[in-house]
Amino acid sequence: MKNIVILISGRGSNMQAIVNTAIPNAKVVAVLSNNPNAAGLAWAAEHGIATAALNHKDFANRMDFDRAMMQLIDEYAPDLVVLAGFMRILTPEFCAHYENRCINIHPSLLPSFTGLHTHQRALDEGCRISGCTIHFVTEVLDNGAIIAQGVVPILDNDTADDIATRVLKVEHQLLPQAVADFISGNLKIVGKRVIKSNQVDDSVTLL
Ligand code: GAR
Repeated sequence: MKNIVILISGRGSNMQAIVNTAIPNAKVVAVLSNNPNAAGLAWAAEHGIATAALNHKDFANRMDFDRAMMQLIDEYAPDLVVLAGFMRILTPEFCAHYENRCINIHPSLLPSFTGLHTHQRALDEGCRISGCTIHFVTEVLDNGAIIAQGVVPILDNDTADDIATRVLKVEHQLLPQAVADFISGNLKIVGKRVIKSNQVDDSVTLL
């Protein structure tokens, strides 16, 4: 059985999507947060999963917070750490510690629109599509090898919230699938590319 630790900062709907998917040989052993009020923590606890929060505001600097978080995460001996709406920039030390075993979901088609407010920025640029990306975490923000991407259209009267809602539905399909691929050993990192040993032509979802 492989241990999965999920980090969240808020609602936790992507975390719920993972928990609600029966991933063979995998167990979500802990849901952790930098935000003690993250709604997803209560949901995870109700579902019998260990939860804990370390408030980043209680730490003098980013390094101290990351080291405490690493110590907490490692108590659960994770095979995979999933950043599912974890809204903290991580230090190089943290990224190196979980190299090739930490993945993130980001609400844009990387390498476009790293960082925040991705859907509004896609609208402002006149993009006709948006989407989400699941990638391995490296010390460069939103820049690690890409595991999967999902695409949605941007419609004429869309607001950023409309796009976010459309993209979130795809996130909930794509993230559990990427976790399952990782757990089953199907993902091989070659440079900046991820090769899937069981690849069928589904790495881009067109809706
Ligand atoms: C998701 O849309 C995820 O892609 C995004 O936060 C949301 C979390 O929702 N992540 C980032 O922006 C990371 N930079 P959730 O808490 O309901 O899963």
